[in-house]
Amino acid sequence: MTSHLVTGIGELVTHDERWGGPLQDAALVAEDGRVVWVGRAADAPPADRATDLGGAAVVPGFVDSHTHLVFAGDRSAEFEARMAGTPYTGGGIATTVAATRAASDDELRARLRALADEARAQGTTTLEIKSGYGLDVEHERRLLRLAREVTDETTFLGAHVVPPGIDRGDYLALVTGPMLAACAPHARWADVFCEPGSPVAFDGDEARAVLGAARDAGLGLRVHGNQLGPGPGVRLAVELGAASVDHCTFLGDTDVAALAEGDTVATLLPGVEFSTRSPYPDARRLLDAGVEVALASDCNPGTCFSTSMPLMIALAVREMGMTSAEAVRAATLGGARALRRDDLGHLRVGARAHLAVLDAPSHRHLAYRPGVPIARGMVL
Ligand code: NIG
Ligand code: FE
Repeated sequence: MTSHLVTGIGELVTHDERWGGPLQDAALVAEDGRVVWVGRAADAPPADRATDLGGAAVVPGFVDSHTHLVFAGDRSAEFEARMAGTPYTGGGIATTVAATRAASDDELRARLRALADEARAQGTTTLEIKSGYGLDVEHERRLLRLAREVTDETTFLGAHVVPPGIDRGDYLALVTGPMLAACAPHARWADVFCEPGSPVAFDGDEARAVLGAARDAGLGLRVHGNQLGPGPGVRLAVELGAASVDHCTFLGDTDVAALAEGDTVATLLPGVEFSTRSPYPDARRLLDAGVEVALASDCNPGTCFSTSMPLMIALAVREMGMTSAEAVRAATLGGARALRRDDLGHLRVGARAHLAVLDAPSHRHLAYRPGVPIARGMVL
């Protein structure tokens, strides 16, 4: 076992309340992949090897708790149409399903790995990855097998939409029966796109059936809810004890109250509002109500083709009323809570030694320098 001292940290965000905020002139020691010491550089213990970051700021590695990285095809024309005013409805998902089914494992793997590398290069050290572009038993299982090559945080999203050519009731029976049975061994979580206003997604009763079956199969629960309009997704997620409800763009007072009382994280995905020209969710309202908020990329070919957590932080600060400190917390500790992981998203002793190293003196530069690649992931 070798110990690794990282020193020359100009500012260190640990999320350890005992420090009362970011530490200046800090150092950290990792051993066997875990943080074993944190403090002032001047007090650092000796270690087997040392890296001097020359004054860089360090925050916990970003925990991107919502992505759809296994897919094929291109939907840039759909993006262009949305920029010209065409609303997003979820109808384009079928295009990606067709392209994904037609792609070989190696083609899907190559793109998945490239996107995971792209995320790491921008400071992301943990990725959740969903299926949802296979939508039959074999292809959903295949996408989860591929996702598992990259992360343990895999999510079965057979209930993304009802694919063309199959009756709704028959598809629900498949998703809650044979498809779930085939996919559960490859997944930690199950998710459902609950959007009663959409002809392709699932209403509250259907989502309840999907989540109930997934829970019985031993999976943790997550929900795509309240993305395109008000609906039952948020309240259902809280009622069923889901780890996270994601999007939360259209919330009523009862949704906010339910989130404040329950232990379901509200995961906000501002890249989606950016890329679909939609109103941003009201993060301030959630934070002021005491809700645990996470930020994630939702990287997917339809609503947000970006892996950049620094972009999500910049949008949250510029458009959603979050301070830089709140946005960084949501992109790290918030994401970890959305995955129910207490070893990620912070840099207290015992945490995984996953860092985002910033080519900047302060975490504030993540929002202050939008579009500039100042963050990189470092796993010790
Ligand atoms: O999280 N809203 C549902 N699913 C994805 C978009 C999928 C797509 O359009 O390909 C989302 O936004
Ligand atoms: Fe999504």
